[in-house]
Amino acid sequence: MMMWKKVLAAVSITTMTAVSLAGCVGSSGATVTTEAAAAAADSEASADSAAGQNITSETKVWKVAFNQTTDHPQYKVMEEFGRKFNEATDGRYAFEIYPNETLGAQRETLEQIQSGTIELSIVNNTHPGSVSDYFKAFDMPFVFDSVEEAMTFMKESPVMDKVKADCEQYGFRIATYLPAGTRSMYTANKPIYSVDDMKGLKVRTMESDVYVQMMDAFGGSAAPMAMGELYTAIQSGVVDGAENNEITYVNSKHYEVAPYWSQTNHLIVPDWLIMSNDAYESLSDEDRAIFDELVAGIMDEVYAQWNDNVDELMASLDTSKVTIVPEEEIDSESFREAIAPVNEALVNSNEKIKEVYDAIMEMKAE
Ligand code: GCU
Repeated sequence: MMMWKKVLAAVSITTMTAVSLAGCVGSSGATVTTEAAAAAADSEASADSAAGQNITSETKVWKVAFNQTTDHPQYKVMEEFGRKFNEATDGRYAFEIYPNETLGAQRETLEQIQSGTIELSIVNNTHPGSVSDYFKAFDMPFVFDSVEEAMTFMKESPVMDKVKADCEQYGFRIATYLPAGTRSMYTANKPIYSVDDMKGLKVRTMESDVYVQMMDAFGGSAAPMAMGELYTAIQSGVVDGAENNEITYVNSKHYEVAPYWSQTNHLIVPDWLIMSNDAYESLSDEDRAIFDELVAGIMDEVYAQWNDNVDELMASLDTSKVTIVPEEEIDSESFREAIAPVNEALVNSNEKIKEVYDAIMEMKAE
C-alpha cells in the first residue's frame, strides 16, 4: 500500500535557457515511415486531427509528432486533449498531430523540439535517456511489475520532479508520462518460451545501450533502430524479431511479418509527452494553468483506453496465422535470472540510475 503523500502534479515554472544538444542527439538520417498501408490511410490525419477545433488567423497551431497510427490510444487522447485545449483557450491554441513518423523518427522529433520547430512529441524513454541518466533506470527489464505500479511511481515519487527537471537544460521539458503497456518478444520463425530460445536471434530494440546489454544477456543480439524501419527489417530478414507492446504489434501490423508472439512481459517502459521549453514559456499564466490541468489528466486517459483496446486487438488476430504463447507457458524466471547481473551492474555504475532505482524499490517495499 502506498503511504506517500501526493506531490504537486504541477511542475514549477522556471526560466530556462535552451541549450543546443548538437552531438548528443544525432540524426539518424532519412526516415522510413511505418508500413505503407497505415501511412497512406493516415496521410490526411494531421489535417483531421485539427478538425473540430476553432482555428482563426490568430490561433497558434502547435505541431505534435507521433510515430504510430491514428488508432493508437495515445493519438486519440492527444486529439481530445487538442480539442479541449482549443476550447478552453477560446481558440488561442490548437494541435495538429502528425502520425506515422511523418515529422521524422522520435529521435529527430526531439531535435525539432529542441530547435523550436515543433512544440510537442511523444517519445519513448530512450530519448530523454540519451541526455539524462536518470531515465535509464526505466529501461531496465522487470523493474516495474505492472503499468499501475509505474503510474503510481510517476505520480507520487518525489524523485520524479528531479528526473523531469533534468531535461530542461537541454531545451525540452517532460509534460507527462504516458503508459505504453508491457513489452513482449515476437519473432518471424519460431516461438520463444525461455532464454534458451533466444540464442543467436537478432532482435530489434529501441535505441538505448541498456537494450543492447539486455539482448546480450538474453542470449541474442540487439539491432537498435527506429520504429519505422522495423516492419521492413523483419520482412527482409535483417532481424529475426522485435519486442513491443500488444497495441503496437497489432496496429503497426508487425504480426504480418513476425507471427510468433510470446508473452514475456519483460519490460514496462514509459513513453513521455515532451514539449519545447519555448512553447511552454510562451503561454500566458492563464493558458499555462489550462494546459497544466488538461495534461495532468491524459496519463489516466491513455491507460483507460489502452485497457479497453488491448484484449480485443489481440483477439482480432487470426490464430491460423499468428501463434500466441501465453504468459503461463513462458519461463519468466529464465529471463529474470539472465538479466539480474546486468541490472545490478547498471545500478551500481551510475548515481542517477541508482537514485531512481532505489526509489522504485523503496515504493515496492512499502
Ligand atoms: C512502443 C512505444 C513507442 C516506441 C516503440 C518502439 O510502441 O509506445 O514510443 O517508439 O515502442 O519500440 O520504438
